[in-house]
Amino acid sequence: MNPNRIIKSSLLCVSLAAAVMWLASGSASQSVKPAQIKPASYNAADYVGSEACKDCHEDQFKAYSHTSHAQLAKIGSWKGKVTGCESCHGPGKDHIAEGDPAKIISFKNKSSKETAETCLACHAGKEERNNFRRGEHWRNDIGCTDCHSPHSNTTGMNLASSNVHVTTANAEKPGFSSIRMLKMNDPQLCLSCHSEVKPAFSAPFHHKVLEGAMRCSDCHNPHGGFELKQARLATGGDAACIKCHADKQGPFTYEHAPVKTEGCTACHTPHGSANPRLLRFSAVNQLCLTCHSVAHDVGAVEPSGPQHNQNAQYANCTACHVKIHGSRSSPVFFR
Ligand code: HEC
Ligand code: HEC
Ligand code: HEC
Ligand code: HEC
Ligand code: HEC
Ligand code: HEC
Ligand code: HEC
Ligand code: HEC
Ligand code: HEC
Ligand code: HEC
Repeated sequence: MNPNRIIKSSLLCVSLAAAVMWLASGSASQSVKPAQIKPASYNAADYVGSEACKDCHEDQFKAYSHTSHAQLAKIGSWKGKVTGCESCHGPGKDHIAEGDPAKIISFKNKSSKETAETCLACHAGKEERNNFRRGEHWRNDIGCTDCHSPHSNTTGMNLASSNVHVTTANAEKPGFSSIRMLKMNDPQLCLSCHSEVKPAFSAPFHHKVLEGAMRCSDCHNPHGGFELKQARLATGGDAACIKCHADKQGPFTYEHAPVKTEGCTACHTPHGSANPRLLRFSAVNQLCLTCHSVAHDVGAVEPSGPQHNQNAQYANCTACHVKIHGSRSSPVFFR
């Protein structure tokens, strides 16, 4: 690895962090707000309520009635606001009176992105999805309804899920989701488009995603973000990894610089690897020497190379430099 990258990427971190703070200061106080999609000529009498749709669209009504969208009408702050079927489909009065499918907002001929605008009218304010329009999914025309089914596809449950660990209680059948109105469960959903990452999760060392012990969305925000690869790095550092590997975060008296500047992926392949500890190299010394190969001049930007030579005794660097993520007492990470 080119040592200059270390400097560049730490500069990048600083400027990204500044951008995040700037944006957060403008939007952090918002949350999901009552419908903002009233047409210019809003007339309360054009809205008939979801019950009026029930008889002719039983399937949609049944599925929808299990979602949190169906609960909104019962919440105080939504009183007098448009909720239910018409919060997405617009006023239903003329459609019902005339039985004309052209008299209701339909999404049939809309792109995913256009449909997503309807969802974002209510959902954009929440931190988790603030950056949807900055993410790779948006840039590639993937909208809400590519992952979520608008009416839910379930017979019942819309459980709150932990996104930290999948337990038997919230584990699902492959290809089926009962939570978050997802079309399929995570990871099946993600792998249906990202099949190229699947083999890594079967490598000799891997995070147990296919086994159901964790999800793609533990590390990625499917709703986009500033971070490279939409990784979840909420507070800088490596929030996604730290959530489960808190001991690697410190604070340490003696930090190993790349853990903080480049993050965990400077040394680890996150999905899976043929190398133990998910390391980027099969031999630890190869990994270290990608950065520590140069002599250290005072004032130089490169990290120091080891003064000791590279014979067998020194080959396994972490035999001596044990606390490789940082140490509270040893500047060379011995303990
Ligand atoms: C009296 C029966 C009736 C009622 C009540 C009714 N619809 Fe419909 N709706 C239809 C028919 C008929 C169609 C056209 C055939 C089809 O697509 O199923 C239709 C089609 C639709 C479509 C698809 C339009 C398209 O072509 O893409 C939507 C969306 C829709 N209705 C929403 C609603 C909503 C929301 C309500 C309640 C406000 C509602 N309907 C109430 C009969 C009804
Ligand atoms: C959260 C927004 C939202 C709500 C609420 C909603 N719909 Fe829909 N509806 C959609 C979208 C988006 C589609 C297009 C389906 C797609 O692209 O998969 C759709 C499609 C439809 C269709 C066309 C047939 C189909 O299933 O694709 C009908 C009929 C329909 N909705 C009726 C209803 C009724 C009745 C209700 C209330 C019980 C309702 N919708 C509530 C967003 C919504
Ligand atoms: C009228 C405003 C409004 C619109 C339009 C809307 N939503 Fe929602 N939605 C809400 C609110 C409020 C909640 C409940 C609070 C929350 O989870 O953020 C919610 C919850 C959800 C949930 C969580 C469900 C669960 O069971 O945990 C999903 C997923 C969702 N919406 C997706 C969508 C999609 C996809 C669309 C567009 C097709 C959409 N919403 C359109 C207001 C809206
Ligand atoms: C690439 C797939 C994907 C896309 C696109 C997507 N979602 Fe999600 N969404 C998910 C997954 C997976 C979860 C569950 C993750 C979790 O529990 O943290 C989720 C959870 C949610 C939730 C409930 C959890 C929460 O954060 O409150 C809401 C609401 C939601 N999505 C709304 C939306 C809206 C609105 C859009 C479009 C602007 C959208 N999603 C686009 C995959 C997607
Ligand atoms: C409907 C197809 C589809 C689904 C479902 C989907 N994605 Fe994507 N995703 C894409 C496309 C297209 C891109 C942009 C092109 C690319 O990099 O593959 C993308 C980009 C990404 C990226 C950024 C890749 C990069 O190189 O910057 C990540 C990370 C990602 N998706 C994760 C997920 C996760 C996690 C899920 C499940 C919650 C998911 N995706 C579900 C289609 C999808
Ligand atoms: C342990 C955390 C973690 C899990 C679990 C995880 N990812 Fe990733 N993924 C990452 C990180 C971090 C990167 C960035 C890799 C890099 O910078 O070298 C990444 C990169 C990606 C990319 C960009 C292409 C690539 O290979 O670099 C895609 C697409 C992707 N992940 C999809 C997924 C999907 C789909 C799943 C679930 C099957 C998943 N990820 C599970 C952390 C994770
Ligand atoms: C949802 C929790 C979770 C997240 C998030 C997570 N991990 Fe892990 N990780 C685990 C668990 C559990 C294990 C050990 C058990 C196993 O799966 O084999 C593990 C194992 C590891 C190992 C050791 C593998 C070995 O062979 O001993 C490394 C290295 C690792 N993770 C790095 C990371 C990095 C880097 C990230 C962020 C990109 C990350 N983890 C995110 C849960 C997580
Ligand atoms: C400078 C390279 C480097 C960076 C950066 C790095 N690691 Fe490691 N990590 C290693 C090495 C080398 C090992 C194997 C140590 C050994 O030989 O026992 C390891 C081992 C691990 C292990 C498994 C053994 C244990 O101690 O639990 C986990 C989990 C882990 N790292 C997580 C992380 C996380 C999370 C991050 C980001 C906060 C991170 N690593 C950043 C080099 C690094
Ligand atoms: C991604 C680049 C990178 C990798 C890989 C890496 N280091 Fe470092 N390391 C650094 C930087 C930068 C410093 C900060 C000190 C400096 O500027 O000299 C540092 C500092 C150290 C120090 C503290 C002594 C000093 O000169 O400050 C030791 C010891 C060390 N690394 C050992 C290792 C070992 C052993 C490995 C392999 C497990 C390793 N490093 C992998 C970049 C790296
Ligand atoms: C047998 C134990 C041992 C092994 C194995 C070992 N080192 Fe060291 N390392 C040391 C000692 C002792 C020091 C000097 C500590 C001091 O100055 O207090 C040191 C210092 C360093 C330093 C700080 C700069 C310097 O040279 O003083 C770096 C960087 C370093 N080692 C990297 C490595 C790398 C890379 C490897 C693997 C190729 C490695 N070490 C293997 C014992 C070891």
